[in-house]
Amino acid sequence: MFDIHSHIIYHIDDGSRDIEESVKLIRSAVEQGATDIIATPHYYVECPTDPNRIREKLSEIEEAVKEAGIVVRLYTGNEVLYFDSMTERMEKGDILTLAGSRYTLIEFYPLESYKTILKCVRNVRTAGFLPIIAHAERFKGLRENGLEEVMSLGAYIQISTEPIGKTGFGSLFDGETKFVRDALRNGQAHFLGTDMHRADSRPPVISSAVSWIRKNLDEDYRDAILYRNAKLIPQDEEIDL
Ligand SMILES: [Fe+2]
Repeated sequence: MFDIHSHIIYHIDDGSRDIEESVKLIRSAVEQGATDIIATPHYYVECPTDPNRIREKLSEIEEAVKEAGIVVRLYTGNEVLYFDSMTERMEKGDILTLAGSRYTLIEFYPLESYKTILKCVRNVRTAGFLPIIAHAERFKGLRENGLEEVMSLGAYIQISTEPIGKTGFGSLFDGETKFVRDALRNGQAHFLGTDMHRADSRPPVISSAVSWIRKNLDEDYRDAILYRNAKLIPQDEEIDL
C-alpha cells in the first residue's frame, strides 16, 4: 500500500514528537502493508514550514528506519491548507509538492464553501499543478455536492484509510465511513492516506481498510487504489481522470 498522507516528521507540526515516535509510526504502517509513505507536514499561510528542514529531518528518519531494519520508501511533501496565493509559493519552492512532482496535497477548513473548493481546483490546475484533495470525506461541501464536479475540473481524490474498514453498529451511522465506501464503490477515489499523526492518537490504520477493499472492489481498481495510481506520483505522471 502506498500512503500519500502522513505526519511522520517529528517536531514540525502536530504529528510525531520525536524520532523514536517517527520510527514507531513507520514500523506500524509497514507491518500493516505500507511500502511507500509520503511525509506531508501541515503548511499554513501564517505558519509556513521550511522545505530544507523537512528534507533534513526526512533524511535523518530514513537513516533511523534503515538502522531499525525497516524496509520502506519515504518521500517529502506538504499538506497545504488552501489560500489564494499558494501556487506562487509552490513555484518558489517554499511549499513542497509530493515527491517533487506536480501533485500537491490540499486541505480546507471542514466547513469551507463548495465555491472555494472549486476555485482552488481551477487555480491550482491553471498554474500547472495537479491538485489532490486530502481526506475528501471531511468536507461538508463535498459531502453535500459529491465528487463529480471537482473531478471534472481536474481534482484527484485522497480518502483516509481509517474510516474504510470501521466495523460495529456505530459504523453504520458514520458519515465519513459511508462517504469513503461510496467513493470507492463508485471508483471516485484515486489515493489512500493514513493521515497518521502520533502513536497514541491517530496511529496508522491500514489492515482493516485493505481487508474491506479486498472484499468489496474488483481486482483492477483494488490494485490502482492500493498502489498503482500513487506509484505515478514520484514519476510525475498524470493519472487519467
Ligand atoms: Fe493531515
